Amino acid sequence: MKILVTGATGSIGSQVVQQLRARDASFRAFVRDRSKGESLGVEFVVGDFDAPQSLKAALQGVDRVLLNGTPHEGLVRQHRAVIDAAKEAGVLHVVRISTRGASATTDHLFGHWHGQADDSLQSSGLGWTVLRPTYFMQNLLRNAESIRSGGRFFGAFGTGRVGFIDSGDIARGAVAQLTHASPRSGVHVLTGPEALTFDEVAAKLSARLGRPVAYVNRPVEEVIENMRKQGLPEALLGSFRGMFESFAQGAASQLSSGVKDLTGAEPRTLDAFLADHASAFR
Ligand SMILES: NC(=O)c1ccc[n+]([C@@H]2O[C@H](COP(=O)([O-])OP(=O)(O)OC[C@H]3O[C@@H](n4cnc5c(N)ncnc54)[C@H](OP(=O)(O)O)[C@@H]3O)[C@@H](O)[C@H]2O)c1
Repeated sequence: MKILVTGATGSIGSQVVQQLRARDASFRAFVRDRSKGESLGVEFVVGDFDAPQSLKAALQGVDRVLLNGTPHEGLVRQHRAVIDAAKEAGVLHVVRISTRGASATTDHLFGHWHGQADDSLQSSGLGWTVLRPTYFMQNLLRNAESIRSGGRFFGAFGTGRVGFIDSGDIARGAVAQLTHASPRSGVHVLTGPEALTFDEVAAKLSARLGRPVAYVNRPVEEVIENMRKQGLPEALLGSFRGMFESFAQGAASQLSSGVKDLTGAEPRTLDAFLADHASAFR
């Protein structure tokens, strides 16, 4: 059985590659950049979701696919192209990384794009598993510089609780299904084991680093304006605004048993994540 791993250089895909290699599974990575493929140290093909011939070549002899990419306005077109090419190539099962709250009818752009792509996969006739993770622990690494230099980090999440998930657990969920004799179909919401406020995250960082770290909550419009100044596309700003507002109201707080259901193991805690990444925040 041969697996194609797309998004193989990303935060989830790179861990999928490591985990498949550790299991001695038969797989190839799909990468845009040859040098990134070489650094993975596994079989790879160079291609792009927007280059149909490269998809055709990459999917030759493939039975299962991990479908994962960057959320942007071309996501639906790109993922539909992979789904169509997979069907054409005789692929049996696709595991797709989506997002919690995905729905073709939501106003929230990330969720809207993912919902449309999920619908396309579900109606494709292929075997399918959709993973809908919540907010990644790895996102906290974006605050590392601010924490290192000033002992503070900023956001507009208020006191909303978030079921932070380690992207390694998303990878474990995907690998468990990609390698299982009978992969579980359906939609699986994935969260970590605890729903924490950002103040509680700051307290955990303080304890881990042995010095005070504070979460500073700012008005949503101020945080959005900072993102605008950093050059984020206007279409995405609305999506981030929606995320801050819904998270502050607790939309990401409910925990799921998805990781345990798919892998048989409990999801990793934020303490374990911070222990692994303490040097980034020091
Ligand atoms: N961050 C969160 O908190 C969060 C929460 C829920 C869901 N999600 C979802 O999780 C997914 C992100 O997963 P991730 O962290 O693994 O993403 P990531 O680290 O941004 O990786 C994206 C991968 O997609 C590849 N890619 C991008 N455009 C491509 C194209 N045109 N053709 C082929 N490959 C392409 C990238 O390759 P290159 O190396 O060439 O760029 C990279 O390997 C997204 O769909 C996001 O919406 C994220």
